[in-house]
Amino acid sequence: MIRFGVIGFGYWGPNIVRNLQGIPGASVAAICDPNPSAQQRASQLSPGACITADYGELLKSPDLDAIAVITPVKTHFELAKCALINGKHVFVEKPFTSTSREALELIELAERKNLRIMVDHTFLFTGAVRKIHELVNNGTLGRLYYYDSTRVNLGLFQHDVNVIWDLAPHDLAIMDYLIGDRAEAVVATGEAHLNGIHDVAFMTIYFPDNVIAHVNVNWLSPVKIRTTLIGGEKKMVVWNDVEPDEKVKVYDRGVQMSSREGVYNLLVSYRSGDMWAPKLEAVEALKKELTYFVDCIMNSEAPFNDGMAGLRVVRMLEAAEDSLKKKGEMVYA
Ligand SMILES: NC(=O)c1ccc[n+]([C@@H]2O[C@H](COP(=O)([O-])OP(=O)(O)OC[C@H]3O[C@@H](n4cnc5c(N)ncnc54)[C@H](O)[C@@H]3O)[C@@H](O)[C@H]2O)c1
Repeated sequence: MIRFGVIGFGYWGPNIVRNLQGIPGASVAAICDPNPSAQQRASQLSPGACITADYGELLKSPDLDAIAVITPVKTHFELAKCALINGKHVFVEKPFTSTSREALELIELAERKNLRIMVDHTFLFTGAVRKIHELVNNGTLGRLYYYDSTRVNLGLFQHDVNVIWDLAPHDLAIMDYLIGDRAEAVVATGEAHLNGIHDVAFMTIYFPDNVIAHVNVNWLSPVKIRTTLIGGEKKMVVWNDVEPDEKVKVYDRGVQMSSREGVYNLLVSYRSGDMWAPKLEAVEALKKELTYFVDCIMNSEAPFNDGMAGLRVVRMLEAAEDSLKKKGEMVYA
């Protein structure tokens, strides 16, 4: 049995606690949040857990094997570091840390102490992303051309991070998983309209082999859109995450070009074949992810969404932040 302490019981923390409570090999032994109303909600959801406002007490407890850090981004590093120093495995929310230097320090510390780090890149455990990963890996899509995502809604405004650090980690983690190559360069533009924090932003990410990605993130959209296009040489995917069913559609569409005698005789042929919607596994992503984390701890294995995966995402975010400040200058990641 892996006994968890959960730090942070705001919006996302209760989802972690609820899912951990449903995993046979895990239990939630303690929950920490300084906010009295969060503590009250925590004791209702998890009556058997010790509820505290003091994370120091929780991190030193010999009764805990692992800590879930579900607090604002700027606190991730300090809390995860204390957890590792105290010999606990850590599950850290996205984005992993505020800087790549912090991420590297946590990775090295975990290695030295032979402890696991998992970064909550929840989308990698959804039926949709697992299916798209399978289609990329088994060659169905062919050579990848692009990843183009729109992730917009009204709010929720964050106090400590801009819209890129809040929403883009999802897409950056997904493209890191699907493309399997490190980003080469990032261009980001955006504007802050209300409180000095960027609330609308557009990111372009360059990968090796001409793979290009674009992410549109926005807290000022009147409607919620979660649509991603993934273009491959053989097939193309449209993933609409707000669709109740048939979220992923695979199109047998594409373009072929052959040139006989220079550009004037270029032969362009368009392929417009079938579309199908593959069946997706219907399981709560967080439950799958946390079950996998418990397995990784028990089997002493590094998860694929480990500290290194978290670091690659933070590096892209840092490059985007730098580019944003320079009004869209290309920054090498
Ligand atoms: N994976 C996802 O899909 C997903 C979704 C939402 C949020 N998140 C991430 O979860 C984290 C928390 O986001 P949220 O929306 O729940 O924020 P929130 O502000 O609603 O909740 C954060 C909670 O942490 C508590 N807290 C702050 N500092 C603390 C400390 N030092 N010790 C103990 N508790 C402390 C606060 O009192 C608050 O209750 C962020 O990193 C965010 O990016 C991830």
